[in-house]
Amino acid sequence: MDLFEKLLQDKGPLGRHSYLDDNLDKNFYMFPKLEGEIQPRMTFKGKEVLTWSLNNYLGLANHPEVRKVDEEASKEWGLAYPMGARMMTGNTQYHEQLEKELSDFVMKEDTMLLNYGYQGVMSVIDALVDRKDVIVYDAESHACIIDGLRMHMGKRFVFPHNDIENLQKQLVRATKLANENGGGVLVITEGVFGMSGNMGDLKSIIDLKEKFDFRLLVDDAHGFGTMGATGAGTGEEQGVQDGIDLYFSTFAKSMASIGAFISGDHDIIDYLRYNVRSQIFAKSLPMPLVIGNLKRLELLRSKPELKENLWKIVNAIQKGLTDNGFNIGTTKSPVTPVFLKGSLISATNLVKDLRNNLNIFCSMIVYPVVPKGVIMLRIIPTAVHSLDDVNQTIEAFKSIKDKLDSGFYEEEAVEGAIVK
Ligand SMILES: Cc1ncc(COP(=O)(O)O)c(C=O)c1O
Repeated sequence: MDLFEKLLQDKGPLGRHSYLDDNLDKNFYMFPKLEGEIQPRMTFKGKEVLTWSLNNYLGLANHPEVRKVDEEASKEWGLAYPMGARMMTGNTQYHEQLEKELSDFVMKEDTMLLNYGYQGVMSVIDALVDRKDVIVYDAESHACIIDGLRMHMGKRFVFPHNDIENLQKQLVRATKLANENGGGVLVITEGVFGMSGNMGDLKSIIDLKEKFDFRLLVDDAHGFGTMGATGAGTGEEQGVQDGIDLYFSTFAKSMASIGAFISGDHDIIDYLRYNVRSQIFAKSLPMPLVIGNLKRLELLRSKPELKENLWKIVNAIQKGLTDNGFNIGTTKSPVTPVFLKGSLISATNLVKDLRNNLNIFCSMIVYPVVPKGVIMLRIIPTAVHSLDDVNQTIEAFKSIKDKLDSGFYEEEAVEGAIVK
């Protein structure tokens, strides 16, 4: 059989939904194009929409000082410099300065920059374990962690999301196996889970270090900049930063940039410098990104009002939603899921109504990411949203909920929607 022919028989769990856009207008549900400056009000298909889908938590994406530094650094350095991997010819004092400042900020001895979060996490996992070692991980871990596990030649055990009792059972199995093999145990979880907004129960996991011998890697992509007194993340929030052996975050969310980092004790970070293959065999971060990230980190540290504004909006929208009977799950972070019940037809009509008629743009998540019959809308508040934005959104959500409950989206196709 021809390989491509076989693949095209089924476009996969996400590609399967692409028919929605074939039947409606292109780029409506899949690969939509938000235009204009990155701010709460952007343009979608020629109309202004209030946007709640960007991980621009602190509003840095369009901050004038950030824009200025990005522009100046691009002008001064271009995108080429430095050429080559860090280890060979791609190192600069600015890369090292950013690592030093990140270490100080997240209270770790040392830091290594990574070009992208996704491949960085995969590659760090790959560098940390061999076939003798055992990985224990949270069931709701991000795809980059799952892909890192796929490269692991040894055993792995999963524990149900944040289920510490079950984690203990897995640790008993993992410890036994690792001891037999002469290997070690790596536990992986997240600081803030990007779909549910739940915090990883880092404190309870770290308490288990008294009983078990393991190292802990935490992906805090959504917690860095948003959680903790200084914004140093979920470890700081739970008072357990010291117990995290390897702290990871991306620059793609609070920092509104590209790149990522991993921090920990000097010796292990130095080991990673020589063993993380996605860095050793890849060109280092271009200078405008490094200088831009230094500026973002400075603002993140020196302007607590950014995080305060974020939380003002988070609290207002989460309270507004729960006061009006919406189910926002168990979020403990800015990530705000709204769980509704309905078919895929209802979900597509509802989102069309939200985007076209109520001018609200948020992401819709359906099966297989959530169970069949559940529609999850995900709201990402930012420091640059206003309380008026919150009120407008609550009113819009009340209206879609009424229509959903009355079966409107199931029976009557919303203007222009031909959903099959
Ligand atoms: C938890 C988590 N880890 C890693 C990543 C990947 O980071 P990057 O976008 O820098 O590749 C993401 C999302 O983007 C994420 O949500």
